[in-house]
This record gives sequence, C-alpha cells and structure tokens, in this order.
Amino acid sequence: MLDSLHQTQSAALAALAAAPDQPALEAWRVEYLGSKGKVRAAMAAMKDVPPTDKPAYGQAVNAMKATLEAEFANRSAALAATASSGPAIDLTEPGIIHTPALGRRHIISRVRDELVDVFGRMGFDVATGPELEDDEHNFVKLNIPAEHPARDPIDNFYVDNPANTVRPRMLRSQTSTVQIRTMEDAVAKGWGPPLKVVSPGRVYRPDTVDATHSFMFHQIEGLYIDRDVTMVDLQSTLMHFARAYFSPDAQVRLRPSFFPFTEPSAEFDMMIALKPGQAPGWVELGGCGMVDPNVLTACGIDPEQWTGFAFGFGIERIAMGKYGIPDIRMLFENDLRFLSQI
Ligand code: DAH
Repeated sequence: MLDSLHQTQSAALAALAAAPDQPALEAWRVEYLGSKGKVRAAMAAMKDVPPTDKPAYGQAVNAMKATLEAEFANRSAALAATASSGPAIDLTEPGIIHTPALGRRHIISRVRDELVDVFGRMGFDVATGPELEDDEHNFVKLNIPAEHPARDPIDNFYVDNPANTVRPRMLRSQTSTVQIRTMEDAVAKGWGPPLKVVSPGRVYRPDTVDATHSFMFHQIEGLYIDRDVTMVDLQSTLMHFARAYFSPDAQVRLRPSFFPFTEPSAEFDMMIALKPGQAPGWVELGGCGMVDPNVLTACGIDPEQWTGFAFGFGIERIAMGKYGIPDIRMLFENDLRFLSQI
C-alpha cells in the first residue's frame, strides 16, 4: 500500500513540474487534489488497510497531501510570475497608425455663418435676441392680436400661463422677435433708423417631429428700415441672396401671402431638388414683406418717414436644399456617418 502511495506522489510531482500553464495546472489540481482526486481516493482506501498498518498508512497519506498542496502552491506562484512578466516586446515592429478623427462644425452652424456672410456682403449687420422671450416681443408688437390663432398655448411653449400672467414668457416661436428688439434698441439708444440686420437663431414650436418638422429649428430673420424702401428692394435683395448662395441661375419667386407684421406679405420660393436625382420643384424658404406701419409705430418709429422690409427663412430648409438632405431629422440625430459626408 505504501509503495503505491509513493508511486502516486512521484507521478504527481513529475506531472506538476511539467504543467506548462494555468489550465494544465487546474487539470492537475482536479486529478490529484480534487474532491474525486487521487489523494481523496488514497484516504478512502484506509478502510481496507489492516488495523496494524493504519497509523503508518494514515501518516503517509497526510504527508503526501501536504507535499502535493505545498508544491501546487509553489508551481502556481511560479507560473503566475512568468505570466505577469508578459511576452517579450519587439520594439522594431512598426506601430499601428491611427488617423486622428478630425471634428468639424455642424452643418447648421456652417450654413448659418455662410448666410450671415452673404447678407453681410449686402450690408446687413448681425443682431441677436433671447430664446426665452415674452409674448410682447413674440406677438403683441408684431401686430399679432390676442385672439390670433398663432398665440394658442397648444402651438407654443409658454413658460408662464398666458391666461393669468400679464406678460407671459415663452420660448420664441420665430426670430421676428429680434426685429422688435432691434428697433426698440435703435430708437432707445438713437443709433437708428436706418438699420439693416439679419438675426439667425433657434426657434421652438410644439410640432410633431417628421421629415420636415421639428420642435426646435433655426431661422434667419432680415430687417431693413430706411427712407423709401420698397418692395423692389426686397425682391432684389432676395434674388441676389439666392444667386450668391445657391447658384447664379437660381430661380426664385414671391407668392402673395399674409403675415400680421408685414403688408403686403409674400412667401419666398426657390426651385430646388430636395432629393438627389429628383426633378427640382418650388420649395418655400420662408416669408417676407413690407414692415407693417403698426409694427414700426409700436417700436417708436414714424411710418410716415420710414419704411422697411423684413423676411424670415428656415435655416434647415436652406441647408436641406443646398446639400440635398431629404429629412430634417438627419440634422439633429448627429450620426457621424451622415455628418462626415457634408
Ligand atoms: N416669422 C414668420 C414665421 O416664422 C416668417 C416671416 C414672415 C418673417 C414674414 C418675416 C416676414 O420677417 O416678414 O413663419
């Protein structure tokens, strides 16, 4: 019996010394020290040992168990030490060359700045106004009376309840608010009229999002007040803009329309192919007209002395027309695969 114990032990030690890695070591542990392993089996064999030999056999089995456990611990530590020193590194290998991903400005920011630039060349300054507005600038002074459907709380993001607040605040629904702020400022500080500004910025409307609508989008507003400004100035300004920004043979048209803050009013359309390969059609870029005398008066400007035109275009519309983008949502999802193409 003792001989067979010795044989088991020397086979175990030889196998342990030969175990090359962690999985082999684990297999060895299961074979010898596991709950169904050979050491357990040797212990269980005790019952067959004649009573007089039991003490010697018991000692030998315990000694073998202690030896194997100790050697197992040594070998584990040795293997772990080699593993953590890792494979040799070949310093002559060429490195992996990662081209850094360059960021770029978002298409809406680029188009906004391009528009400001084109109008800048026609003499327009840039004016800005707050996105959190009040109904006085968003509606009242723009000649939009209290009962006008555009003021319905359903169609606006009011911050205060319009039913019980004197001057309810709201997220502006149009950049026409900046017309009012610019005229008020010019009169209060005496720097105008004349005045000639464009105002790009965000506007908010609780529209359901689809291919052509978003609850937040951008507009660029234009306002020109001077002596003897006429509809012809408006028309030629918009035609110059379309030719400068889109193409020298851009086709544009004005369609009679209605806005409370202009009289007469028109819709400004351009011939655009919204989808690549598609035949161009008339696309409405926004509204325009001659500033209503009521609006001038509300801002302290005498309509007998001054006249002016105004316009307001959707920047997303313009970007979609210029770059053949078929769905407005692409402009807000910020999928890099899309953004990196334009
Ligand atoms: N504010 C109008 C809108 O959001 C667009 C507009 C129309 C602006 C006519 C103007 C204008 O300045 O004269 O629908």
